[in-house]
Amino acid sequence: MCPSLMAHRISMAGVDESRTRGRKCDLCVMRGPGDGTLDAAAQKPNFAPMLREGPPPSTLLASTPAAWIDAVRSDFDAFLRDHAACERKASATAMTLASHYRDKEKLVTAMVDLACEELHHFRKVYACIVARGGRLGEDTKDRYVRDLLGLVRRAPEVYLLDRLLVASVIEARGCERFQLLAAALEPDLAPLYADFAESEARHAGLFVRLAKIYYAEADVETRLGELGAMEAPIMCALPLRPRLH
Ligand SMILES: [Fe+2]
Repeated sequence: MCPSLMAHRISMAGVDESRTRGRKCDLCVMRGPGDGTLDAAAQKPNFAPMLREGPPPSTLLASTPAAWIDAVRSDFDAFLRDHAACERKASATAMTLASHYRDKEKLVTAMVDLACEELHHFRKVYACIVARGGRLGEDTKDRYVRDLLGLVRRAPEVYLLDRLLVASVIEARGCERFQLLAAALEPDLAPLYADFAESEARHAGLFVRLAKIYYAEADVETRLGELGAMEAPIMCALPLRPRLH
């Protein structure tokens, strides 16, 4: 192990989650199937059933190299800044989909809840950043997401299918990487990342279930397999650095 890693104690001491215990999340105040209230016991927003159910499909064909964890631990503050940006963008993307497909009620309901949950994650990561004396980072391009979005076919009859399935693949990769971090980080941070991993797993499944509402199941499975196969070389080509991707 790199000696600098031993010195770099990853800590979130000072993050005060008790402030949100048992009260409504002020980022998630809408009423409806998922009313955004916090589950007092689990400290999680209470989202619609569609956002709670189901394991993720196993779409990933390649595993993240172990050296990625070393890269993250070499500059965990930089990783947190990137992670915060990813959560913020995930929330914005969900709202973009809700806005584009406003005639599809199930999709809109799921995306509004998802946007809230991703923003809830953003707030948690931001709290970590602040507790460590940091601040948000500047916006940078996410090459991984860009390359995956480049796989989306533009034909109107398949565009939404690809958008949903690319989103699922991104969530599945996030799940895999958060699981790695949950196993590698110190005990004060590991539970947070285990929680993030569980959420990403649900989100990966959600996008596939949504795709199966609007497209034939066989077409969804076939395209998901294709995108999973194309994701592997994109992930493997990424430089190892303290970023989610
Ligand atoms: Fe997510």
